[in-house]
Amino acid sequence: MEKTFIMIKPDGVQRGLVGEIIGRFERKGFTLVALKQLAVSRELAEKHYDVHRDKPFFGGLVEFIISSPVVAMVWQGEGAIASARKLIGATNPLSAEPGTIRGDYGITIGRNIIHGSDAPETAQSEIALWFGEGEVSEWEPTL
Ligand code: CMP
Repeated sequence: MEKTFIMIKPDGVQRGLVGEIIGRFERKGFTLVALKQLAVSRELAEKHYDVHRDKPFFGGLVEFIISSPVVAMVWQGEGAIASARKLIGATNPLSAEPGTIRGDYGITIGRNIIHGSDAPETAQSEIALWFGEGEVSEWEPTL
């Protein structure tokens, strides 16, 4: 079953949106297979956003991600990667549709609340980067 990496960024945590976001994923029908709140090291933030290393916003993005705790999760389900991206909405909250997480709660691209893997390869590498062996439960609901 497909797994995707989801991170609630410092703004989402500080604004008290953790429960709301987890609820949206649960109600959609995805299965939570890993969850932790953590203070992110600079090394982890830089590795996670390595693809953006040459972008002008890279430094500010890393500083923001390490500024206060994030909630890292792995959600599982059929088509979880693409479907989670739909729940999350466009990268720029101003362009994100109402009804999506960023569309409902965000205004600024640098404070867009949540990250979700964009493809199977990135989901796999992000899950391996953020979670150790044994931290991801292998289970599927039976109901
Ligand atoms: P995310 O989905 O985590 O992936 C890359 C992140 O870079 C993105 O969400 C934004 O938080 C951030 N980002 C993208 N473009 C900009 C920008 N122009 N200015 C600041 N941050 C950006």
